[in-house]
Amino acid sequence: MTTPLIMPRRNFIKNVAVAGAAISALPLFNIRAQGASRKFKIGLIGCGGRGTGATGNIIAAAKTLGYEIEVVAVADFFQEKADKLAQKHPGCRAFGGPDAYHKVLEQPIELVLMATPPAFRPLHLEASIAAGKHCFIEKPVAVDPVGARKVIAIGEVAKNKGLCIVAGTQRRHMSTYLRNQFAISQGAIGKITGGTISWCQSKLWFKERNPGESDASYLVRNWTSFVEMSGDHIVEQHLHQLDVTNWFIGRPPVSAIGFGGRARRQTGNQFDFFSVDFNYGEDCHIHSMCRQIKSCYDNVGEFYIGTEGTTYGAGKMQSAKLASLKIPDFTTHADGQVQEHVDLLAAIAKGTPLNGAKDVAEATLTGIMGRISAYTGQLVRWTDLTTNTESPWYNLALTPAPADFEGGTVIAPKDGVCPIPGEA
Ligand SMILES: NC(=O)c1ccc[n+]([C@@H]2O[C@H](COP(=O)([O-])OP(=O)(O)OC[C@H]3O[C@@H](n4cnc5c(N)ncnc54)[C@H](O)[C@@H]3O)[C@@H](O)[C@H]2O)c1
Repeated sequence: MTTPLIMPRRNFIKNVAVAGAAISALPLFNIRAQGASRKFKIGLIGCGGRGTGATGNIIAAAKTLGYEIEVVAVADFFQEKADKLAQKHPGCRAFGGPDAYHKVLEQPIELVLMATPPAFRPLHLEASIAAGKHCFIEKPVAVDPVGARKVIAIGEVAKNKGLCIVAGTQRRHMSTYLRNQFAISQGAIGKITGGTISWCQSKLWFKERNPGESDASYLVRNWTSFVEMSGDHIVEQHLHQLDVTNWFIGRPPVSAIGFGGRARRQTGNQFDFFSVDFNYGEDCHIHSMCRQIKSCYDNVGEFYIGTEGTTYGAGKMQSAKLASLKIPDFTTHADGQVQEHVDLLAAIAKGTPLNGAKDVAEATLTGIMGRISAYTGQLVRWTDLTTNTESPWYNLALTPAPADFEGGTVIAPKDGVCPIPGEA
């Protein structure tokens, strides 16, 4: 089940130098051979599908490295969900409620995994880094420009404290993507000038409101239907393609102009589909599309056109130069969601912190930029979200905010009311 992950340290250093790549883009390897045995005490915030999955992934990753994981404490908005997961881990404490993350951070843990809806990520990450914990953060990491910029700033604090932040953008930890990114960085397809990326799939779930249910509970259970909780699906799901694109091109886009709409949804306030032209400058445009409508053509992936070839994100590359390039052995675990934890644990053990906060925050901002353009019908510039304090979107901070959940002041947005381009 596990793939041996062995690469001489010397090669690892050489690869970093050759690729000129971010250290977080490279897999780290089995250090069991060094005789190191270690137990990591961890906590988890958000005990849903991915939180449960990530806990299993980190246990599998630790086994690969010859380490142990002790799940010390878990938190969820709903006590019963925390209890259910804690039962699987002997001695694990379970905390419930919107402030339960504080209790997890008070426990003797060195690493915390975060898998709540994205709206909570900036707040939980800030508290975790302040408490001196290494962090694994599921993508996306914010729902608005204020939150995304906050994550970039927290990333700098983490750097100064020597703490790791690894994000759930697993494609950056997969050999298929690592190989193609490396080849592109070596000029295999020349300069990227265009491409098309998509995440088109069926609709997601929706849960009816229970009698007497609070707005906060209703929103938490239906977080994938409300932009204030998820960022909308161009941010929540399509982020993976936006992240690969920023990584392969080597910079975030300059501007976005897009459209989208609601055709089928009855509930929540998100769009069903988006189509966005991301302008990366230097005559490079990427067309992005994402859709959540059932019984339509589904496709998830990336394709890029360069001046000297073409490539899929993880697949075939058409390149006359490829054969002459020396591609390092990017051997990784077959499952990128295990490999990201292998890289995280190895980095903590070695004391060589990884920090992917800026990359994942920029991918999040890229999705937000496309969303704002589709919602408003306007051209949105990267600077509108990052530096231009006069922009109407610079200070956009969606409500209800995480603090409203802790303060018990959540008012749910109306179901079925969404932005109208040209009027929003
Ligand atoms: N990397 C990937 O491929 C991937 C795949 C799936 C999901 N995700 C991401 O993981 C995150 C979680 O998604 P999921 O599918 O597990 O959703 P989920 O609804 O199954 O789980 C979310 C959990 O968080 C809990 N929660 C909500 N607010 C909370 C709060 N303030 N404090 C503590 N707990 C809270 C919920 O009760 C729920 O149990 C999302 O950001 C999603 O985008 C990433």
